[in-house]
Amino acid sequence: MAKYTIAVLPGDGIGNDVVEAANIVLDKINLDADYRYGDIGWEFWKTEGEPLPERTIQLLKETDCCLFGAITSKPKEEAFKELVPELRSRGYVYFSPIVRLRQEFDLRTNLRPCKAYPGNPLNYRDDIDLVVFRENTEGLYCGVEFHPVPQPLRDVLTDLHPKAKKFEKVSLDDMALSCRIFTRQACQNIVRSAFEYAKEHSYKSVTVVEKPNVIRETSGLMVREARKIARDFPGIELWEANIDAMCMWLVKNPQDYGVLVSSNMFGDIISDLCAQLVGGLGFACSGNIGDDYAVFEPTHGSAPKYAGQYKVNPMAMFLSVKLMLSWLGENDMASLLEKAVAKVIKDGIVRTYDMGGQSTSIEVAEAVAAYL
Ligand code: NAI
Ligand code: MG
Repeated sequence: MAKYTIAVLPGDGIGNDVVEAANIVLDKINLDADYRYGDIGWEFWKTEGEPLPERTIQLLKETDCCLFGAITSKPKEEAFKELVPELRSRGYVYFSPIVRLRQEFDLRTNLRPCKAYPGNPLNYRDDIDLVVFRENTEGLYCGVEFHPVPQPLRDVLTDLHPKAKKFEKVSLDDMALSCRIFTRQACQNIVRSAFEYAKEHSYKSVTVVEKPNVIRETSGLMVREARKIARDFPGIELWEANIDAMCMWLVKNPQDYGVLVSSNMFGDIISDLCAQLVGGLGFACSGNIGDDYAVFEPTHGSAPKYAGQYKVNPMAMFLSVKLMLSWLGENDMASLLEKAVAKVIKDGIVRTYDMGGQSTSIEVAEAVAAYL
């Protein structure tokens, strides 16, 4: 029996292209693993009314971790129109399978390293080394939303909060409500993970990015917990920044920052900004990490216009594989893979279109494999 069993979910569009490229690299690195493929994505929504079938959940439960490609996702009304006709009367509602995976397996930490590898023509600067920790299961993406707003809910809000009076006369269908729910535990977990990572990888600062001056209770809770946790890490400075200002500072002086930590939506926003500073979607890797399971994925989507053409940059996928290897404790393999990726970038010979080249995803994989 192999040492690890890994679920592989290619998903839709270029998810398949980058998984195929990753296979070349994984074969070469010789990880002692069995790979078990599973179903996820648009095809399964259309034909089964479920983009994340139960058999896939089961598969994940039987494996050590998961490598995920990308999926196509659409708003629920549009999704409904694409269901096969015989399923339309069954009351299926589309829900993003990746968000569901994060919640179902309590993958509470979203880790997104954004490092500028020397020689990448897409780097905003060459000295950027940012790591975003994003809370992955609650906040504004927790899914507690209402439209129309139920009368009893509005009554309670009007009773309990003077500011809710303003909405008393609006018709229930003319307003929508999305809840931003933070728990103390989740705030502590994400901040602690960020500090532990900073300590292990010798970063000098952790910046908590919220907006406590305006969103006083939720952002406030996160910042207050961060201040307490920071005391356990004397060598690392805690910096506090508002999300809006942070977007400006990250463009002005990205080299000044190290580890960043934030809630679900703000973390989503800054991680895209950070990714673009180091080459964009072709380089943006991520890990969704829980206590005993993790899903690794490039942060790009299914890019339908490039599907099946092997044109897109597989580096984001390789760097996600690198995160997976580290999480499995295969640190030598992880660092070998990162070095091979860095060498191919620096050589500048084998490059996909986004880097100004014409190589295929498979050629990039072969170049990385050659260094392995
Ligand atoms: P996208 O990330 O799929 O692609 C946007 C554009 O970025 C592409 O057209 C391409 O020009 C570029 N790009 C993406 N990945 C690249 C790579 N590896 N190398 C080079 N260039 C790359 O985002 P888009 O077009 O907004 O969404 C397409 C579909 O993917 C939608 O259905 C969306 O909901 C879904 N999506 C899924 C995600 C996931 O699986 N985690 C994340 C983001 C979007
Ligand atoms: Mg995003």
